[in-house]
Amino acid sequence: MSMNDPLGTHARLLQQLRDRLQLLPDKPDESPEVTLRCLWALAEGKALAISQLGAFRPAMLDDAGITRLEALIEQRLNGVPLAHLTGRQDFMGQVLLASPAALVPRRETEQLGFCAVRRLQSMPVARPLVIDVCTGAGNIALGIACHLPQARVMGADLSPDAVGLATQNAAFLGRTDVEFRCGDLLEPFSDPALQGTVNMITCNPPYISSARVDGMPLEISRHEPRLAFDGGPFGVKIIRKLIATAPQLLEPGGWLLMEIGLGQGAGVAKSLAADLHYDEVHTHNDAAGQVRVIEARRNPDIQAKTP
Ligand SMILES: C[S@@+](CC[C@H](N)C(=O)[O-])C[C@H]1O[C@@H](n2cnc3c(N)ncnc32)[C@H](O)[C@@H]1O
Repeated sequence: MSMNDPLGTHARLLQQLRDRLQLLPDKPDESPEVTLRCLWALAEGKALAISQLGAFRPAMLDDAGITRLEALIEQRLNGVPLAHLTGRQDFMGQVLLASPAALVPRRETEQLGFCAVRRLQSMPVARPLVIDVCTGAGNIALGIACHLPQARVMGADLSPDAVGLATQNAAFLGRTDVEFRCGDLLEPFSDPALQGTVNMITCNPPYISSARVDGMPLEISRHEPRLAFDGGPFGVKIIRKLIATAPQLLEPGGWLLMEIGLGQGAGVAKSLAADLHYDEVHTHNDAAGQVRVIEARRNPDIQAKTP
């Protein structure tokens, strides 16, 4: 079996990635160098998330290894997300399993996860009850659970495939106490005993308008579930429904936290401010000054509508 010079192979493949790899702005951790290291590790049989590359030293690959690596690079250049190839994705300091079953968690969504953790830490509740809907891979639910081990966390998604991956992630992180259910928004939590008891609802909903979903980059439109993006004609269908249904489930003074799309901040904040079921609304901007996270407090003085 002949061995290849890892440096020569490395330089050739890196140049290929530099010339042809199309990077997405919402996956800022990826670069040609990072991609090559992740795929090299994979060709060696090691599934690593980007955060785990620090200790990785590429070994010499034999001919079969180089063939494996070249095939992986070709898949990546054809738009297969890096996380689908490695099966790993970083989120809120944890390494999660990733697959086409659910959206690959984005770095920008960590803002929602950390806002939720900070808000929960400020609440005078020893074991807060948190429900994460549109949970996808379970990343927000499990991020909260890992940062606040005392929290009781549940999640749900309309997609059975996503619920399957979220459940696998709970086991992967040793948090099988985090239960995932399948169903439309808050419907999986219609148990009368839960109504008015939930301390926080989190949600990163689909918020892209249907017309824009069709024009998304191929890496997204071909490889990630459309259900994860399509927020209806104006992108706010799910957000509106959640704003209307969350007060029933939230305890008086409980919080609804949502990620929203670019340009939706003013409209969503206005709807929440006009809704008497909420008495406080806070917005959080991203580094570019755009509102991306909204928090709304369930008004303790107003009775929730019955569904
Ligand atoms: C933008 S993704 C968010 C996934 C994950 N929470 C994250 O932040 O990476 C939206 C998720 O909402 C789910 N979804 C879409 N419509 C839904 C609905 N009506 N009820 C529950 N989940 C829904 C999709 O399957 C998808 O997993």
